[in-house]
Amino acid sequence: MDEPDLSVKIGPLTLKNPVLTASGTFGYGQEYSGLMDLGRLGGIVVKGLSLKPRSGNPPPRTVETPCGMLNAIGLANLGLETFLKEKLPALQKLKTAVIVNIYGHSINEYGAVAAGLKGVNGISAIEVNISCPNVEKGGMAFGTDAEMSARVTERVLENSDKPVIVKLSPNVTDICEIAIAVEKAGAHAVSLINTLTGMAIDIESRTPVLTNISGGLSGPAIRPVALYMVYQVVNALNIPVIGVGGIVDYRDALQFLIAGATAIQVGTANFVNPRTTLHIIEGLKTFCAERKISRIDEIIGSLRMTDPS
Ligand SMILES: Cc1cc2nc3c(=O)[nH]c(=O)nc-3n(C[C@H](O)[C@H](O)[C@H](O)COP(=O)(O)O)c2cc1C
Repeated sequence: MDEPDLSVKIGPLTLKNPVLTASGTFGYGQEYSGLMDLGRLGGIVVKGLSLKPRSGNPPPRTVETPCGMLNAIGLANLGLETFLKEKLPALQKLKTAVIVNIYGHSINEYGAVAAGLKGVNGISAIEVNISCPNVEKGGMAFGTDAEMSARVTERVLENSDKPVIVKLSPNVTDICEIAIAVEKAGAHAVSLINTLTGMAIDIESRTPVLTNISGGLSGPAIRPVALYMVYQVVNALNIPVIGVGGIVDYRDALQFLIAGATAIQVGTANFVNPRTTLHIIEGLKTFCAERKISRIDEIIGSLRMTDPS
């Protein structure tokens, strides 16, 4: 049998396989170029980009937790101008999809970052991180409010010539409400989940371990939560869904694909083994080949429900 076809479509974008790196865990790709052929990946989602450079929160800003980690990096990044000048040229040479994750502290900032990427070659799509606090509205994250989420989506779409993927926050009562709002606003796809808010305390000093007090929980600890949210959102939307959260091997990836995710992202696992994504791609190939599945498409959304009777 020929090699299984792992290619998938995220709206107008075709990926050679459904395995992407998650934003903030793979730098700008180049950091990993000595360890693997980046061209084998389905795509790279780069570190969250804002209009101006940001140094993020003071350390300590990460801590290990059972089966995961908390981070309060605070979206440290180079800013739009330096990204375009110093990081994009290497990304443009890669034979993989480059997805630029963006964020803002106001709707105008989201629009400005999207506008700055308009007409720029070598960017396959924009992923919009709506977990960011809205400074104009008392610091509540955009992604916890359906109307604000829709407004951010609209503003990015107005200022962009690229497919727009909106990355949803799990720190909400009903993720489907937000997902439906961004779909109605015109998003080409959604990705989920971003990190779950949590904290850790040092029992000797009795102080929070993270200077920021709270941080975002990621890693295998969040996988079942992410999987269920993906399952719910897949059933609520008509646009493609990208699954993220605690994926460490091809079996985890398959759970998300079977639940209906069209592609997956690998985050924290890159810190444990930088080649995790490649192992997942190989694992998916072997899984399909052994079962005579010629296209990964046949697996996506193939969840069977057990009959309780
Ligand atoms: C250190 C770190 C930095 C992150 N930075 C970003 C970011 O800049 N933008 C974003 O949308 N998500 C960011 N995330 C969230 C991840 O992309 C991903 O959604 C989350 O970690 C869940 O996936 P995982 O369990 O595979 O890590 C970050 C996660 C970690 C651990």
